[in-house]
Amino acid sequence: MLSMSDRLLLAIESSCDESAVALVRNGVEVLVERVASQTAIHAPFGGVIPEVAARAHHEWLPLLLNEVLQEAEGLGIAATIEGVALTTGPGLVGSLLVGAGIGSAWAWARGLPVVPVNHLEGHLRAAWLRDLVEVDVPTLPAIGLVVSGGHTLLVRIERSGVIVRLGGTIDDAAGEAFDKIARLLGAPYPGGAALSALAAKASRGGRITPLPIAKTDQPYDFSFSGVKTAAIRQALLASGITDHTPGRAATLTRQFTERPLPEGAAIAIAAATEQAIVGALRAGVQRALRANPDCSLIVGGGVAANVPLRAALALVASEERRTISVPPLKWCTDNAAMIGAAGDALLRDGRGVYQDPSTGLEVHAQWRIGSEVPA
Ligand code: KG4
Ligand code: ZN
Repeated sequence: MLSMSDRLLLAIESSCDESAVALVRNGVEVLVERVASQTAIHAPFGGVIPEVAARAHHEWLPLLLNEVLQEAEGLGIAATIEGVALTTGPGLVGSLLVGAGIGSAWAWARGLPVVPVNHLEGHLRAAWLRDLVEVDVPTLPAIGLVVSGGHTLLVRIERSGVIVRLGGTIDDAAGEAFDKIARLLGAPYPGGAALSALAAKASRGGRITPLPIAKTDQPYDFSFSGVKTAAIRQALLASGITDHTPGRAATLTRQFTERPLPEGAAIAIAAATEQAIVGALRAGVQRALRANPDCSLIVGGGVAANVPLRAALALVASEERRTISVPPLKWCTDNAAMIGAAGDALLRDGRGVYQDPSTGLEVHAQWRIGSEVPA
């Protein structure tokens, strides 16, 4: 049951290939939640097809919303929803428009405010969601690391909505690098978790040829595209393919779909990939923590589900004597609960808007975290 002081937000996420709806109490407690992943639809294409994603959101979101509201009716809390948190960027424009359209129409019909949420801020706010497992409640200011399929960035979070970007990837996102190399190793899209499972098979002390990580000009930037190229080179070498035509990574990767790598080589490349990516992220986070001695550490995004990365960052935090908050695995990958958590903080900051859906809620393919919504 809700008390008078409780705030209940409906939240919708549709920026990429997860359709998700949740009900979140006070920005920390998930009362009802649905996530429908489109992975199986996009996997045959080796990546997300924007038009297909938008259509699936259009088909699924109303069903998920209905289910969540019915469950809320059953709990006797549906009438107490105070607002609707919506992902309005960054992401695929068509997908964002579907979620924003459905959410703002629903809110308008009930005279409720909508709260536009930056997806990346959502990933960071996921650390505030309480689960049965008790973890450190995040404290601010904090260094935030977002590592997902589309983004890799380091920020300093002062408070909700006040976030300073320190740096980020200058080419591939960490998840993108995981996915591209996983494809080379024969795993279907998105292959990060599969690559990690393969890497776990590498024997301790086994021979792994390290993959190089490019140095960047800025201390908080990352570069992962060189890891991918080096992994392809190792794969070519391991399979004795000497007659390849030099070409783009995608063309070279295709050769391995036809002729899979020997398992030992795949395991060694997976382990080297994970080592390189985790090492680069760890180093960047350590630099940021050292330069910001007042900060705790918050991590979010799909790649934060990676077990060796979680362990490496926990170690850094402990070495630097900081607390670390990483969401449980289910809230690392895209979900609506994190949007509800971010939306709650923003609503308290007066960022709710009464949006007539006929004029359309603006969505943004690009939206730098910490900046105002682009004009
Ligand atoms: O945050 P997310 O669900 O979607 C985006 O906003 O991009 O992140 C998805 C990414 C994919 O690249 C996926 O391969 C990666 O997270 N991922 C992992 C693991 N689980 C998911 N990468 C490495 N290790 C994992 N265990
Ligand atoms: Zn995401």
